[in-house]
Amino acid sequence: WTKYQPFPPVHLPDRQWPNRVLTRAPIWCSVDLRDGNQALAIPMNVSQKLEMFHTLVKIGFKEIEVGFPSASNTEFTFNRRLIEENRIPPDVWIQVLVQAREDLIERTIESLVGARRVIIHMYNSTSPAQRRVVFNMTRDQIIQMAMRGARMIKERLPRLKGTEVRFQYSPESFSATEVEFAKEVAEAVMEVWQPTPENKMILNLPDTVEVAMPNVYADQVEWICRNIRNRESLIISVHTHNDRGTGTAKTELALLAGAERVEGTLFGNGERTGNLDIVTVALNMYMHGIDPGLDFSDINRLREVYERCTGMTVPPRHPYAGELVFTAFSGSHQDAIRKGLREWNEGRRQYWDVPYLPIDPRDIGRQYREVIRVNSQSGKGGVAYLLENEYGIELPKELQREFGPIANDEVDRLGREVSGAELKAMFWREYVER
Ligand code: KIV
Ligand code: ZN
Repeated sequence: WTKYQPFPPVHLPDRQWPNRVLTRAPIWCSVDLRDGNQALAIPMNVSQKLEMFHTLVKIGFKEIEVGFPSASNTEFTFNRRLIEENRIPPDVWIQVLVQAREDLIERTIESLVGARRVIIHMYNSTSPAQRRVVFNMTRDQIIQMAMRGARMIKERLPRLKGTEVRFQYSPESFSATEVEFAKEVAEAVMEVWQPTPENKMILNLPDTVEVAMPNVYADQVEWICRNIRNRESLIISVHTHNDRGTGTAKTELALLAGAERVEGTLFGNGERTGNLDIVTVALNMYMHGIDPGLDFSDINRLREVYERCTGMTVPPRHPYAGELVFTAFSGSHQDAIRKGLREWNEGRRQYWDVPYLPIDPRDIGRQYREVIRVNSQSGKGGVAYLLENEYGIELPKELQREFGPIANDEVDRLGREVSGAELKAMFWREYVER
């Protein structure tokens, strides 16, 4: 981990967490097989889920939300196959989601019998709009519902004899909930589950729908971290979505604000605009010299599995994984990258510092690519490159300086990209036919 340097913080002595930088990776939990899957027009079948599960294990996830086993036979069967076919490595926790409802809890527990390590993730929504529109319940009734669900799960634990069980609670729509009330509900659940520092409970704080700026969410997370009772018995987890396009920023700020665990998906698959993209957050850390503990060294292959299993596509400009993100079109960028790479390859830099390439694409199994296109934005270098590479016409420096602006005027007039053949025709008109 010496190839990349931590980014130096800006010093503002009157501020607290914005001055800090991330120094280590959180606990990662993939929710691809649940939140990601529930957002697909055609959810994954069992064999697609199995392929995805094994891929997630290979990347290095130790906590994987495998589904909502009470929601469908496919989900239930998937759990059973994972367990009965012994497909879960001993150091991996499978996580299942369930609402605070008896019939669903019953079926969920049944799906887990025989597993080695499980996280039972119970949720109920807590925001004023959800309380009014969905449940028509008072605050107190919401608390009672959460406590009842927590009790029902606890009472059924003897059915999971031999299984290591961890509890997780999510006040769904946390970020739209009054923080004091979210704390009250979470503490009520803690009263039932009785977590200890040796046997911690996960308190997950979902930004179910993005409704505010990233700093606001981070403040909410920090407020909970500072005020919740028995904090040392909790793992504070964050779960952001991307309605305002700031899921990544929210997760990163929430980590600065005290969160220890992150839920998200590969490439941000998930409801509406998606869940947090774990690949981006992990590689952002990598870029600052932090070992993310997840292996993205073959991102092209990962992308191929993801696209095949989910039927989704990764957009060309998606951070790290998009087709175009390590491609330079502009002549000045290409020139700077070539010089930076030469410096790096000759061992003249201790840390990666190549202009326009924030990380070395080879670290994630990709390659830097130059695309020489000539349009009105291109300089004389691009024109000379195409004439030489496509037609063997080598322009001396002086002629490059003369012909460059002539070609540029013509390309500008056409208002589009031009091919090498068109450039050759322009050159011919200007110097041969005249
Ligand atoms: O976005 C959300 O609130 C969820 C919860 C069920 C954790 O997915
Ligand atoms: Zn979600």
